[in-house]
Amino acid sequence: MMKDVKHYLQFSDLTREEYNYIFERAQVLKRRHVSGELYRPLPGKVMAMIFEKNSTRTRVSFEALMTHLGGHAMFLDSKTSQLGRGEPPEDTARVLSRMCDIIMIRTFDQSLVETLAAYSRVPVINGLTNEYHPCQILADILTYIEHRGSIQGKTVAWVGDGNNMSRTWVQAADILGFKLKVATPAGYELTLLDGKQYGSDCLEVGHDPAWAVRDADLVTTDVFTSMGYEDESAVRLKAFAGYEVNEALMALARPDALFMHCLPAHRGEEVSAGVIDGPQSVVWDEAENRLHAQKALVEYLLLGKVNH
Ligand code: CP
Ligand code: NVA
Repeated sequence: MMKDVKHYLQFSDLTREEYNYIFERAQVLKRRHVSGELYRPLPGKVMAMIFEKNSTRTRVSFEALMTHLGGHAMFLDSKTSQLGRGEPPEDTARVLSRMCDIIMIRTFDQSLVETLAAYSRVPVINGLTNEYHPCQILADILTYIEHRGSIQGKTVAWVGDGNNMSRTWVQAADILGFKLKVATPAGYELTLLDGKQYGSDCLEVGHDPAWAVRDADLVTTDVFTSMGYEDESAVRLKAFAGYEVNEALMALARPDALFMHCLPAHRGEEVSAGVIDGPQSVVWDEAENRLHAQKALVEYLLLGKVNH
């Protein structure tokens, strides 16, 4: 790793104290943006965005936030860049980080993101891997705070796949001090990759969605089939029967429970239309907050804490 460069590769890369700052700062930047005030602390700064998987929210939020901050974001994909022709990630990192000020990458293996960071002179942000999706959980927790205040001591229920999203929620629960209850179908359990042991005040796992959701403050789910696993779609559709977050399931959570989904969603599979389009759903705020949360993150990685 290059010295003194702060990367954001997993949720566990920042401390609770840093998150408290970023959530506060994101709300300041959001208010400023909504009021139409221009704030351009990054003139001439360039973000390289590498996408090896599809994206709507991640691409648009990073591109928009770099424009808002006075910089520029550049889209690269594996089809049209040399990455897709086998140029080593070490060399890509060396070159990009001599031309750009920050790199964001969405790809398959977490190890690629780690390699990129190890050879980069500038911060690298994980915009989703098979293993983690830290920027999404950053936005999700900002959304929870805006609607309900601190998430500390609350209970979050995860219903569905033991995937990149649920694995990132575990790290967030540990750092920010809330409980995560995870219900996955058999064969799709959460596998934790950071070698840590999580106590039952932080993480409980099972297979029963009703158990997970009972008395939860926040219920969240994700697609049955994540990007990169499309070959398993038909098998997964069967295995995940009974894992739809619908009105009956939501009724078991606390009456003021929120519903979140990182999107894109499949109504009638992992979530019913009544829930995602219903009064407890905050999915549009959640999507919007990708912009504000990541703006605070990028500002922090490039400028440190600012108070103006
Ligand atoms: N939630 C999320 O990361 O959306 P995109 O795949 O559209 O970027
Ligand atoms: N788990 C999903 C999230 C998409 C934003 C995937 O990896 O495809």
